[in-house]
Amino acid sequence: MVKYIQVKILLLVLFISLPPTTLAKLRVGFYTSSCPQAESIVQQAVQQRFVADQSVTAALLRMHFHDCFVRGCDASILIDSTANNQAEKDAPPNLTVREYTLIDQIKTMLEAACPETVSCADIVTLATRDAVSLSGGQRYNVPTGRRDGLVSSASEVNLPGPTSTVSQSQQAFSARGLTLNDMVVLLGGHTIGVTHCSFFQHRLSNFQGSGSPDTSMDEELVTTLKGTCGSVPNTDPTTFLDQNTSFALDNEYFNQIMKKRGVLQIDQELALHTSSSKLVSRFASNNALFGQRFAKAMVKLGNIQVLEGNLGEIRKNCRIFNAPSQ
Ligand code: HEM
Ligand SMILES: *[C@@H]1O[C@H](CO)[C@@H](O)[C@H](O)[C@H]1NC(C)=O
Ligand SMILES: *[C@@H]1O[C@H](CO)[C@@H](O)[C@H](O)[C@H]1NC(C)=O
Repeated sequence: MVKYIQVKILLLVLFISLPPTTLAKLRVGFYTSSCPQAESIVQQAVQQRFVADQSVTAALLRMHFHDCFVRGCDASILIDSTANNQAEKDAPPNLTVREYTLIDQIKTMLEAACPETVSCADIVTLATRDAVSLSGGQRYNVPTGRRDGLVSSASEVNLPGPTSTVSQSQQAFSARGLTLNDMVVLLGGHTIGVTHCSFFQHRLSNFQGSGSPDTSMDEELVTTLKGTCGSVPNTDPTTFLDQNTSFALDNEYFNQIMKKRGVLQIDQELALHTSSSKLVSRFASNNALFGQRFAKAMVKLGNIQVLEGNLGEIRKNCRIFNAPSQ
């Protein structure tokens, strides 16, 4: 009896002490009443951009991944550096993050339709979702209601790199609440987009001091990539991460890495490491399974450390923190 009352009191105390921030959680259709056109405005803008340049999907996917892996999905990646602050976007692994202007354009349209309502973090999330489906990926419902962060610092950028091992990368994912399986399916994002030679050139000759190329890379691919990377001296050319169906968000990346045709070291290792190889071969043989799991994992990626309720702010300009109110 005493125990029962104690539990009731405990529950009451817990309930009363819940912060108000829990009142507005992420949910699908967060803007249904506050800005009913929000999702269609984003969709139309992304579609228009996609018609002009289908590589927009790769750009947005990478932007979303980088945003979510540093301080959670809070649009910290969009902030411009100032005299006093070197922002996240100016940290070293920033070469392919592009399409900041598309996000600006969408923000301008949303501010005209529904001022100070739709966060920049949600714009990146929704735009990525729309681009994925335009490139042949499965369309998924994604929760919204993210708030924009108040900090963006280059010194906080700590992402796995192209020469990270499978276990090192796995640690980076698990630190953000993602599993090894989430990592395998999300690396399937490398089914589109490009990489600069500087990220894989060490595999093409004298790999780890061996005097020869990385033996885990198909010899024909070594020859092709040597040609690509040596084509114009003193430049850093790019090549497709998926050398076969480079613009399709499909499972072909997994087939390529099983054929020793992974371009980045981490991609190739994914097919070889005992902890990931089984799932790699399942995705390689089942495009529908990959599509479903990718969609699910994207939702999970988009939920990392989000700011909800009255935390953070709704930025008026995605590149600049709002001025503190008087
Ligand atoms: C262990 C994790 C990962 C590593 C080490 C990694 C590394 C890289 C590297 C080195 C590049 C080339 C960048 C350049 O040349 O500038 C790249 C490109 C790319 N990454 Fe990843 N990545 C990882 C995970 C992911 C995830 C989870 C996604 C999305 C779901 C993703 C999506 C992309 C896309 C789409 C591109 C091409 C970008 C473009 O063409 O503009 N990556 N990644
Ligand atoms: C990337 O970051 C470096 C600083 O590490 C900066 O000098 C460079 O301008 C940035 N590149 C882009 C494209 O933003
Ligand atoms: C390219 O992908 C298609 C499936 O989309 C496959 O049938 C074909 O074998 C692949 N080609 C190479 C060279 O890997």
